[in-house]
Amino acid sequence: MQKLVIRGEKRLCGEIAVQGAKNSALALLAACVLCSGEVVLKNCPALSDVFAACRILNRLGCKSRYLDHCAYVDAGGMSECAVPEDMMRQMRSSIVFLGAVLGRKGQCELSYPGGCELGPRPIDMHLSALSQMGVKINEEYGVLCCECPKGLHGARINLDFPSVGATENIMLAAALAKGETVITNAAREPEIADLGDFLNCCGARVSGQGTSTIVISGVDKLHGCEYEVMPDRIAAATYMSAAAITGGELDLKNARAEHLGAVIPVFEQMGCRVFSYDDRIYIAGKQPLKAVKTIRTMPFPAFPTDAQAVVMAALTKAKGTSVVVENIFSSRYRHVDELVRMGADIKTEGKVAVIEGVERLYGARVRAADLRGGAALVLAGLAAQGETEVENLCYIDRGYESIEKYLRNVGADVCRMTS
Ligand code: EPU
Repeated sequence: MQKLVIRGEKRLCGEIAVQGAKNSALALLAACVLCSGEVVLKNCPALSDVFAACRILNRLGCKSRYLDHCAYVDAGGMSECAVPEDMMRQMRSSIVFLGAVLGRKGQCELSYPGGCELGPRPIDMHLSALSQMGVKINEEYGVLCCECPKGLHGARINLDFPSVGATENIMLAAALAKGETVITNAAREPEIADLGDFLNCCGARVSGQGTSTIVISGVDKLHGCEYEVMPDRIAAATYMSAAAITGGELDLKNARAEHLGAVIPVFEQMGCRVFSYDDRIYIAGKQPLKAVKTIRTMPFPAFPTDAQAVVMAALTKAKGTSVVVENIFSSRYRHVDELVRMGADIKTEGKVAVIEGVERLYGARVRAADLRGGAALVLAGLAAQGETEVENLCYIDRGYESIEKYLRNVGADVCRMTS
């Protein structure tokens, strides 16, 4: 078991080159299944979830290797259509392999992705969309056996909610399907635009990615390509929060302000100075921070649920009362009790969290229960008096590349220890 030991109250200052986006890289790795010819994914972050996706690719008979922020995938020899349960459980986003494997092989067998880190995460919209595209789905003892006896065909699919994963699965299934697929009420997250751009780079015909109507005209074949994964907007938001909570100054390289349109104003309301130029965001924290009225998490372009915990960490030290409403996941406040152990004053009821800013946080031994909540504890540790130990680092490693190195480079006193 690994943990981070943080000695807080150090002001962070310097430049951070933000990693490639986890949630984009995972969908792109699944998309590689559809390509004949090698795909080179540059700027692919070194994360345990990325390595788990590479293991799934290898299990399917594709050749994948990872070297120095590049993933090389050759799906030419893909021989299997089943993803074993233990691999499905390792990573929730493994579900996007369903659309990709069906697109390539016309059949796929996998189990429900594991755990319930953020509350129930059903896949009903994924399955309903795929069945509209000609997929027959049989479920036995938690294993989904999917096949399309007459091949996949295009369909007009309206999503009840703009689900990121369902939109990705449909795009992947539709890329090689017969005819045209139109997704309405599609997710508009930048990672969806990145997937559409990647597929087009491989010879697909996708338009409207990044808007709520996406049209995919099926093609016969996709080829390999070289593609650069977009920067990680949530890692950028996390480091912005690190600057805010420590009263520091960070210059984030590879951070796109247009991906953080609802997040930047929140830091500005807290009193931080934020400038963006080219692919950079500069942020200077101001002490004390100011509370913000209400943050509501919603699908893009509104405030992202993935930034809720890391922004809440900064709000624990903001003067006044802030309110957060988590609308996407039913159990995404698991960091709250741990922040309270560190001296934060937060009350939750259902979707709502009320944060009364405190003058000081105190170091404590705390435990990450999920990825973003874990990052929030690290941020609180950076600002806390004394020593903080954040246990269960495995959650944080799923989405942040060597978080301790990035933070140490800008002045944090943090080290990784094995207990
Ligand atoms: N939902 C359904 N039925 C479905 C699909 C989704 O009810 O068939 C519900 C979910 O239960 C949830 C809401 O719709 O309440 C949103 O789910 P969505 O499908 O949009 O999320 P996801 O695809 O499971 C991705 C990211 C998450 C991020 C969400 C929302 C990846 C690998 N994961 O999950 O990222 O929070 O979109 O933006 O892309 C993270 O990085 O920490 C993370 C959890």
